[in-house]
Amino acid sequence: MPPSIGLIICSQRTPRAGPQIGTFIHNAIRESYPAEKTTITTIDLAEWNLPLYNESGMPSRFSSADEYEHEHTKAWSREISRHEAFIFVTPQYNWGYPASVKNAIDYLFHEWKGKPALVVSYGGHGGGKAAEQLRQVLQGVRMRPLERMIGLKFPEMKEVERAARGEDLGLDGEGGYWVGEREGIQAAFGELIAALEGEKE
Ligand SMILES: Cc1cc2nc3c(=O)[nH]c(=O)nc-3n(C[C@H](O)[C@H](O)[C@H](O)COP(=O)(O)O)c2cc1C
Repeated sequence: MPPSIGLIICSQRTPRAGPQIGTFIHNAIRESYPAEKTTITTIDLAEWNLPLYNESGMPSRFSSADEYEHEHTKAWSREISRHEAFIFVTPQYNWGYPASVKNAIDYLFHEWKGKPALVVSYGGHGGGKAAEQLRQVLQGVRMRPLERMIGLKFPEMKEVERAARGEDLGLDGEGGYWVGEREGIQAAFGELIAALEGEKE
C-alpha cells in the first residue's frame, strides 16, 4: 500500500487563496511522485468547519477515541488516524498561523503523535513567522515536523491583496510566479517520505 499523506488546507475564511495554493503544491509533488507511489488526500478545514474546541477532556489523557464526547471529534479522529504523514498549508495572519489550524490540532493528540509533517506557509514575506510557530505546536503534539519548511512569498503587495480576495492567482502552468518553488517542494516531500520510510526500517 502506498503511504497516505494528508494535505491540510489551514485557512477557513470566504473567500481565500488556500485551496488553490494546496492544488499548486499537490500538482508540484505529482510531477515527481506519481499516484502509485503516494496517496495524497486534501483535508480542507473549511469543509470540516469544526466548532471551537468543546470536548470536556484533554486528548493527551485519553486512551481511546471512544472517550470523545462529540461526533465531530470522532469523525476528525478517524480522518487523521488514516494518514501516516501531513503537509500543513498555512497562511500567515498577523505574524501567526490562523486559529482554525490550532483548533483542529487541539482536538486530538494520539492521532498526530509520531507522524512526520511538512509545513508550507505563504504570505507577503513567505509566512515564516507562522511556520515557526506552527512547527513548535506540532512538536507539542509529538509530531516530527521536518526542519526544512517551504515559505511561498507573494511577489508584491498587489498579489497579497489578490490572494486575500480569493482571486485566481494563475499558479499552475509555466507562467506562474512560484514555478521556481516546485523543485524545493518536491525535495521537501522527498524528505517527508524518507522520514516515513526511516520509521518503518
Ligand atoms: C487577518 C489577516 C491577517 C493577515 N496578516 C498577514 C501577515 O501577517 N503577513 C502576511 O504576509 N500576510 C498577511 N495577510 C495576507 C495573507 O497572506 C493573504 O490574505 C492570504 O490570501 C491569506 O490566506 P487565505 O486567503 O488562504 O486566508 C493577512 C490576511 C488576513 C486575512
